[in-house]
Amino acid sequence: MKLVVFISGRGSNLAALLKNQAQNGYEVAHVISNKASALGLEIAQEHGVNNSHIVWTDRNQGEQHATEILNQVKPDLIVLAGFMKVLSAEFVAQFENKIINIHPSLLPLYPGLNTHQRAINDGQTTHGASVHLVDDQLDHGLVLSQCHIAIEPSDTAESLAKKLISKEHKLLTETVKMIAQGVLTWHNGLEYSNEPLKQAMVIDSPDM
Ligand code: GAR
Repeated sequence: MKLVVFISGRGSNLAALLKNQAQNGYEVAHVISNKASALGLEIAQEHGVNNSHIVWTDRNQGEQHATEILNQVKPDLIVLAGFMKVLSAEFVAQFENKIINIHPSLLPLYPGLNTHQRAINDGQTTHGASVHLVDDQLDHGLVLSQCHIAIEPSDTAESLAKKLISKEHKLLTETVKMIAQGVLTWHNGLEYSNEPLKQAMVIDSPDM
């Protein structure tokens, strides 16, 4: 299965996807960043993956350029891995049901920024991350999979971000692997191995 990955920064989720691609049955064919300085672009280069910086100050222009690349590469799946722009309804419609995003909260809780601090402020004892289908709203769409972490009284936004990121890597790679294997599908509602799923797949590490 061919992927195009969109990033805006550090690219640790991209690195996790690249590390596991051979055994997981997918290939990152192209990386697109809206930031020229994104570390993730260097990661793509180190792995010999085609990559493009797209100027995204104007959404229409950004999306037009991205569409040209996507129409050339023809990916099976588009993965937003730390891509901090909201896509238009027109763009999403062109690639309907083919765009997923990873977000550091248990959606529908806390779309947007500062998810860790907001979870602490609300007195939550559990936090996590979600992989979801993308629509034209911020961090919104059918949730495919989630992972969880406990929030301890001593936790800060920084400690939660640190605890969560390695679990995000597993969540994203395992989810993309299941999609590549054709076991996780959403065309007739969310299904795993042809059985309907009432809620998102839970992909927790054993230490949870
Ligand atoms: C990740 O925590 C991801 O969940 C988040 O950005 C970070 C990117 O890290 N995405 C969002 O907040 C999307 N709304 P990375 O560049 O190291 O993969």
